[in-house]
Amino acid sequence: MDLFNVSVSGNPIDRGLVSRLVKSIMYTPLQWPHLLSLCACLILGGLYLRKLPLPPGPSPLPIIGNIHQLLSKPLPELLLEWHQKYGPIISFRSGSRLMVSIASHDVCQDLMLRKGTLYNSRPEIVVAGRHATRGLHIALMPFGKKWQAHRRILASVTTENASRKYRQLEEVESLQVMINLLTSNDFLANFRQAEIHQSEQLTYRIMEVLFNFHFALGEIFPVLDYLPGFLAPWKAFGKGFYSEATSLYSRNLLKAQSTSSWNWVKHSLTRPEARDMPTDELSMLFGASLQAAFETVPSVLRVFVKAMLLHPECVVKAQTELDQIVGSDRVPSFSDMPSLPYIKAIVNECCRWQAVIPLGVPHCNTRGDEYGGYRFSKGTTVFANTWAIGFNEGLYRNARDFLPERWVENPELPNSAPFGYGRRVCLGKFIGRDSLFINIARLLWGYKFAHGEREVALWDIDHAFSSSPRDFDAKFSIRSAKHHETLERAWAVTDTDPNVILGKIATDYQA
Ligand code: HEM
Repeated sequence: MDLFNVSVSGNPIDRGLVSRLVKSIMYTPLQWPHLLSLCACLILGGLYLRKLPLPPGPSPLPIIGNIHQLLSKPLPELLLEWHQKYGPIISFRSGSRLMVSIASHDVCQDLMLRKGTLYNSRPEIVVAGRHATRGLHIALMPFGKKWQAHRRILASVTTENASRKYRQLEEVESLQVMINLLTSNDFLANFRQAEIHQSEQLTYRIMEVLFNFHFALGEIFPVLDYLPGFLAPWKAFGKGFYSEATSLYSRNLLKAQSTSSWNWVKHSLTRPEARDMPTDELSMLFGASLQAAFETVPSVLRVFVKAMLLHPECVVKAQTELDQIVGSDRVPSFSDMPSLPYIKAIVNECCRWQAVIPLGVPHCNTRGDEYGGYRFSKGTTVFANTWAIGFNEGLYRNARDFLPERWVENPELPNSAPFGYGRRVCLGKFIGRDSLFINIARLLWGYKFAHGEREVALWDIDHAFSSSPRDFDAKFSIRSAKHHETLERAWAVTDTDPNVILGKIATDYQA
């Protein structure tokens, strides 16, 4: 038997030999022959992996890999085409980087959830990770002690249980959105909060540079990062960005620490992981979580408005449900959630249909691995491709159509892809979903939706790291005098003082 000539599907005789060797080592006292067996096992394992093929995909060119193709159209659409041609696991090269994209929910679960920590690191992102945030951005950090500390601190305020406590705040904010729409159709500005404008600008800048060609060179060929600054413009950008971001976030941190009311910062600073953390690091931790939150929820709400304009039949169905369960004498609240399956279905469908983080945040494996007969070399950039998973016809029939009914007919349909997988799963997924639910339920309860001046186009999407419908207009008009009166009444009795709301949240934490 030629042990070095292992077939693609993984020869069972070879695997049997390896497992016998392992067992012989595990169940007998350690002796020289066993040590030799261990070495043989490791070498054979390594050779076995090296003989396996990479997942299929388009042929790369020398040096540039598949860059010429990657630049030809929006990445989510291009990868979807490749998945349709080559299957649910594909590989390609961006310059010197090997990348794998996965279009199957089950495979993502297998790799990122069931294989423990193996697939839960991040590839090194030169501009945004190394220079602009100096390894302090939680979403870009490799798996390790620093990431664990950041994650534990944020997790303490974002568990499912903790997230429920913020519902009172989300109810006030969504009421504010409803009131604003009475006098302005500028739904986009309305979905975003004015006070985070500066942080918003910072996030846009970092997203822009990720897609700026000269900066992308550093990303595609990380070796170029050894060039001196005048040949590597991303270094100067990163320096400026870092000092601007840490100065803004440190000011916010100080403000949060010195206010009298409860807040995330004060709560988190009691955690043992936060005790010796330098100020720059702490401020980046909270700044990063704000960034992660502010772009995503408003983008999904934009998808929602688009879907409602294009599918008035869904508005009718949703309003029938709301009229039956809530009526016009009160605004919907979180307590209505269990009785509003169609609204929850709209939330799921908006997240799936035009996913706002279409390729997730890339994962990376810390060891070489084998899966499905393919080799995953150590350090491969692995995308849990939300866009392609959402268009998997095996899971979602007529996947290009906006069909909330699919979630009502089959409540077991997987809905987790938009929030990612494994240990890197989105920390704000409960907050995000709650926020979407209350805004969508209330907007549908109170408003009629009509096309505005700039018509909405079905697949006109601005694809970048995050994807969002290109600008369009919509007109909002209140459904009836009764709805108007109820809304004004609800607003009049709402305490909008943030200190009071945060005080109530603090009391809930203590209870
Ligand atoms: C609809 C809203 C949201 C969507 C669609 C979304 C989506 C995502 C995705 C796809 C990831 C990457 C997961 C992975 O690597 O597998 C992620 C990570 C993350 N999200 Fe969200 N997110 C949303 C809201 C929020 C909110 C409100 C927060 C604030 C608490 C937040 C905080 C984070 C953080 C801190 C990470 C990095 C986690 C890590 O790398 O360990 N997200 N999010």
